[in-house]
Amino acid sequence: MSYLRTAWYMAGWSNELGPNDQGSAGFTREICGRRIFFYRLQNGTPCAILDRCPHRFAPLSLGTREGDMLVCPYHGLGFGPDGKCTRNPFSDRIPAAATIPTFAVEERHGIVWLWGGEPDAADPALIPDFSFVPDAPGWRTITGYTLMEANYEYGTDNLLDLSHIEFVHKGSFAGQGVIFAGEHSVQQDGDTLHSNWWMPGIAPPSVAQGVFPPDAVVDHWLEMRWNAPASMRLNIGVCPHGAPREAGFELPQAHILTPANEHQTHYFWSSSRPNETDNVQLDEILRAMFRQAFDEEDKPLIEAAYANIKANLQAGGDFWAEKPLSLGIDQGGTRARRLLEKLIAQEGAGENQTATHKTA
Ligand code: FES
Ligand SMILES: [Fe+2]
Repeated sequence: MSYLRTAWYMAGWSNELGPNDQGSAGFTREICGRRIFFYRLQNGTPCAILDRCPHRFAPLSLGTREGDMLVCPYHGLGFGPDGKCTRNPFSDRIPAAATIPTFAVEERHGIVWLWGGEPDAADPALIPDFSFVPDAPGWRTITGYTLMEANYEYGTDNLLDLSHIEFVHKGSFAGQGVIFAGEHSVQQDGDTLHSNWWMPGIAPPSVAQGVFPPDAVVDHWLEMRWNAPASMRLNIGVCPHGAPREAGFELPQAHILTPANEHQTHYFWSSSRPNETDNVQLDEILRAMFRQAFDEEDKPLIEAAYANIKANLQAGGDFWAEKPLSLGIDQGGTRARRLLEKLIAQEGAGENQTATHKTA
């Protein structure tokens, strides 16, 4: 399958890289079908290198570190952070072609981002804003991760259509029918999509329990922002009915999907709150609730739905060939699929032009 190359993919949380000191272990993650090792240099700079020695393909991540040199665990070839072989224990000569692909990587707001294309073309200005993720005075964020056995665009469908809350999350977020009372709108701003639900004049949703009395009348919004390939931010807001939004509260969440390969997806999530920021017990209660919602409610359903068509996809079909019904509520996911197709096609056209130009 084709992946968008000129985009930033979330590789992991910063704390997976370990601290800013020598010998932090780093982590390996498959992204777009490539197993990549992420680690820190001694000066703290994050690096990304294909986790495959060019000799007999051992993972460098299983090796040792000498300063900033990665030493292969199998026969001891050493590689610098630029992927070039710098040591051959069997000869003074460095073998030709002893170079490992490296990738552009950026660490921002507690997230490690991988650029999907040529490192020289990496543009950090294109990283979507997730500045709410790190803990800040008066704010506490919990994070989580799960691996989904489904293509990442099927996860996007789920997140851009929050009407599923009413059916899938009866055991956690308890929709209470509020979605049906609301208006759904999808807007595109450049290459950013917004899939928004606005639910005015309703009883306080579960997220507002304890903030508003049960008999209060409130306005409630769920606003999902999407950036390619599948990096989403959800703002969950509640305010007194008719009041400015600032009179209530808004809780931001990250929902970031990264394709491991065509059939598996890394799902990273976070949730921030402005209350009881030092309450570690509350952290655990919320973590358990989100795990139930994402791991036990969303994930099995998305995986089961995907399993229903996976064989057709493997036989060469695609999502559209399955003739999915449109219910309107799925407009956000549909727009995201179309936009991603367009961006990937544009990349292909650009590369063809470049190739034509080069050969002219
Ligand atoms: S596999 Fe790495 S040196 Fe042989
Ligand atoms: Fe869900």
